[in-house]
Amino acid sequence: MTFSDAGPPAPPGPRGPGVPQALRITITVNGRQLPAEVDPRTLLVHVIRDCWGLSGAKIACDTSQCGACTVLLDGRAVKSCTILAVQADGAVLTTIEGLDEAGVLTNLQQQFRDQHALQCGFCTPGMIMTAVSLVGDGIATDEAAVRRGLAGNICRCTGYQPIVQAVLAAARATGDGAQATAAARLTADSAAPGGDGGGAA
Ligand code: FES
Ligand code: FES
Repeated sequence: MTFSDAGPPAPPGPRGPGVPQALRITITVNGRQLPAEVDPRTLLVHVIRDCWGLSGAKIACDTSQCGACTVLLDGRAVKSCTILAVQADGAVLTTIEGLDEAGVLTNLQQQFRDQHALQCGFCTPGMIMTAVSLVGDGIATDEAAVRRGLAGNICRCTGYQPIVQAVLAAARATGDGAQATAAARLTADSAAPGGDGGGAA
């Protein structure tokens, strides 16, 4: 093929010819579908912070160790500095800003408050997002499990004890709530006509 057959070659972009410069992605963020045009190598945390202005997720290391950037991606706690934004296309993302329910603190947030587990604004959002996953997945069964689950979230300043207590308290409250709901359902079922408790023996 000669030059005249092909027409003038496209000018190479900064990353070389044939490499897409921007890709369009859409992620459901805290319940809203948000689009973004991203370079394929853009990290998810940069889109969260710089495109969408959600500054709760922090960048506090360059080594994927601190966990300050933790968010929930399709319900799983992930370090958003270790994921390309394009990998999250179509996913459901929750950041610390989307955790409360219409301004009401969740059980876990309330426990962090009650147990004096709130540390600085760098480490706390990531701690809480990891804790959401530990409690939600039923992993926060005892102190050792919580400490293991939080191993990827680093605070340089504390002994973690109040944080662990807050997660355990939230897990207990969640378990109590689930048991209360199940008990209420059983009571309602047995009281209903035809239920176990509704007819003569
Ligand atoms: S900024 Fe993501 S792990 Fe430190
Ligand atoms: S890093 Fe946040 S209080 Fe220690």
